[in-house]
Formats: sequence, structure tokens, C-alpha cells
Amino acid sequence: EWGVDETISEEPINWFEKTDIAPIKQSTTASNSINTSTTPKAKSTPHLATHQETVSQATSVAAKCTTLDELKAAILEFDGCSLKKTASNTVFCDGNPDSDIMVIGEAPADKEDLEGKPFIGEPGQLLDKMFAAIDLSREKDFYITNLMPWRPPGNRKLTDTECEICLPFLKRHIELFAPKIIILVGATSAKALMNTTDGITKIHGKWKEYDLSDSQVPMVAIFHPAYLIRQPQFKKQTWHDLLDIKSKIMELK
Ligand code: URA
Repeated sequence: EWGVDETISEEPINWFEKTDIAPIKQSTTASNSINTSTTPKAKSTPHLATHQETVSQATSVAAKCTTLDELKAAILEFDGCSLKKTASNTVFCDGNPDSDIMVIGEAPADKEDLEGKPFIGEPGQLLDKMFAAIDLSREKDFYITNLMPWRPPGNRKLTDTECEICLPFLKRHIELFAPKIIILVGATSAKALMNTTDGITKIHGKWKEYDLSDSQVPMVAIFHPAYLIRQPQFKKQTWHDLLDIKSKIMELK
């Protein structure tokens, strides 16, 4: 998807790291084998973290943050997710940080990437209308973020690896925000936080509990507005889910 269609050396080189490695000269041989006389030796090959090391690094960096501002700064510093390299902005949050409702989507798309705010494109505008229909506004009543702070190229689906790397930041985000209700928008954040492989048509509207250190927070998934734009037949079920969310909010007041 990034346009890699051939390998040019036997050892991977992280070209994003600053090294003294000279550029590989074009081999003049017609064969596919590597001409070692033209392959430069790296003076010191940078250590490339394994996936598990990157997840552990994200977990320990996130754990040290004690405020949302610190978490945002830590995410801005974190270089373990390759999506950051192609994104224009790190998208952290929008809405009311003093509210009780936390809304969690998937990842920024093009508009969000350009402006650095979640859910401001067409699906985001539909999401605002959906919440307005149950008297909730982003400015006053809820806080909104995404599982992934960086836009995947071409708005492609996130890979499991990318989700696993950013999940520790999202979990810390939830702990620091300490919501009374969590609303998961779409299948990706729902699968990640509900720890299920079931699809959104099965899990939407079913309340589960999210374990915070000292409490259980009700959480529910709804269809993603981008999906509703493509599949409007699910709007009816979404309306029932929204009414149910409204009742739960009233119950908790
Ligand atoms: N879709 C999402 O899940 N999040 C955004 O911020 C935008 C589109």
C-alpha cells in the first residue's frame, strides 16, 4: 500500500533514522542477485524495535502521564507508529473535557488530518446531528477522540498491529478522562475496547462494562456515521441505540 514492490538489500534499513549510510548504488548487473561490492555496509545499524517492544514502550510512556495535556504531549513525541510519518497532524480530542460522556471513533480522515480535530468531515457532521437528536452537543455534553491519532493513508482500514500500538494511549486517555459513559463509534474502536471479534451489526446497542481501576463504566457501540452514509438502512437501528443511550444518561444523572 505504500508502493513497496521490490527489495534492494538483504538487510532492512530505516531510512527515517539519521545515519551515515551512503545511498545504495544501482547495480549494473542484469541478474536479480545482490552485487555485494556495491552494497554499502552500515557503520552502525539502528536497532529497529519489534512490535512487542513498541507496544511496551507505548504502555510505559502512557502510564507516566498524569494529565490529558501530558498524554497529548507524549503522543506528539511518540514515534512508534508509522502512520505518524504520513499524517499532517496528530488528532487528539475535541468537545468538553469536563463532561461525563466519552465518544471514541476510529481514526482521522482527510479533513481531520488537515485541521487536527476529530470528526469534522461529513461523517462527523452526521455524528453531531445524531447526538443533537438526543439533545447532546459536542461543545457542552461530550468529549470526543479516536483510537488512532493519525490518519491512515487513503483512509484505509487500520491494521491490528497499528491498533495494538495505539491502544495503550487510548486506555490511559480513558483512565485520565474517567467518563461515566463510553460510546464507541464504529467497529474498530468497539472491537478494540470490547475485546471481541464480532462485527458491529452484532455488538451495536449492547451495553458492556469498561473496567476502570475503581469503577465499571457502561459502554456501548453504535454504527459509524460513515457506514450509515453508505448503508442508510441501519439508521433505524441506530435511532433505537441513541434513544437507549439517552435513557442510560438519564438513569445515571
Ligand atoms: N472517522 C473517525 O472514526 N474519526 C474521525 O475523526 C473521522 C472519521
